[in-house]
Amino acid sequence: EKGTYPHFMLKEIDEQPFVIRKIIQEYQDENDQIKLDPDVREAMKACDRIYIIAAGTSYHAGLLGKQFIEKMAQIPVEVHVASEFSYNMPLLSEKPLFVFISQSGETADSRSVLVQTKELGHPALTLTNVPGSTLSREADYTLHLHAGPEIAVASTKAYTAQMAVLAILAVDTAHAKGVDLDFDPMQELGIVANAMEALTDQKEELESLTRDYLSTTRNCFFIGRSIDHYVGVEGALKLKEISYIQAEGFAGGELKHGTIALIEDGTPVIALATQKNVSPSIRGNVQEVEARGANSLTISMKGIEEEDDEFVIPHVHELLTPLASVIPLQLIAYYAALHRDCDVDKPRNLAKSVTVE
Ligand code: F6R
Repeated sequence: EKGTYPHFMLKEIDEQPFVIRKIIQEYQDENDQIKLDPDVREAMKACDRIYIIAAGTSYHAGLLGKQFIEKMAQIPVEVHVASEFSYNMPLLSEKPLFVFISQSGETADSRSVLVQTKELGHPALTLTNVPGSTLSREADYTLHLHAGPEIAVASTKAYTAQMAVLAILAVDTAHAKGVDLDFDPMQELGIVANAMEALTDQKEELESLTRDYLSTTRNCFFIGRSIDHYVGVEGALKLKEISYIQAEGFAGGELKHGTIALIEDGTPVIALATQKNVSPSIRGNVQEVEARGANSLTISMKGIEEEDDEFVIPHVHELLTPLASVIPLQLIAYYAALHRDCDVDKPRNLAKSVTVE
């Protein structure tokens, strides 16, 4: 039930800090150590390469999961869009582990890859919000996202839950492999949950930014570099699917290779700048689009913010910024859809779970 909320999407956006705290609780034992199915730990340790398979928003979580796993657990990871995998089946490593990420656990494109990889005899792990779903039953192992039912078609809390569980999995694997890490995932995720709470309290500010930037536009661009790029792609998907504004997310460095041709007077460009090492370059991109008339909105992070930034998220660990920086993007998409009288929870032409290939 949505209670006092006008839409499930808004309720689910607000639930995110609680979902993260629930995940911390579920994945921690009484000695504050990571609690994880020992078989999953073994499978992670035994593989020589991970193939993440997913669609849509879950694919975007996978792109960040690759960063977590490669940086912390030091296992190479490939991320594939499920519907493309069979046509472009990569040369597999000797000991692959397939990781399926799916909120519903019912996505047909992902399932068809699972059927195919099982036939080849490869182990599979599913991260899903629905234990007992097809992808969960048919894989060897399951990790539960604990996000609670997600009703709005646009995925919000499942995305942040997927990233939280992927981060825990990455750290657990690092520990199992004896990699030296100076990163306490539960503590860092606790900080993220607090940041999320502060961000969901900034609805009025975000609604007004949405009015300023998106009220009449037909398109919108999201730019970012490194980890921010992947969050931008998710922000673009959220915006297009519920407000029908044509939106595209791409790497800041790619601007000059084509997309900058589309920038004209008043074109909204949302720039993410939460990563210290790329902050000067993305800010350079903002100047380039501004010089061509763009209306730029910079979302940065406390600690590396600059005076003119339109929105600043609280400080969280650099690797976990997507869990916080996506919240303003979700809320901007929500208000853009609301202001255009769109059906927020049930956008046209879309279904909550896509059970056909
Ligand atoms: C976007 C969205 C979709 C799903 C995609 C995969 O907001 O909801 O892109 O993420 O259809 O669905 P699952 O995660 O259920 O496999």
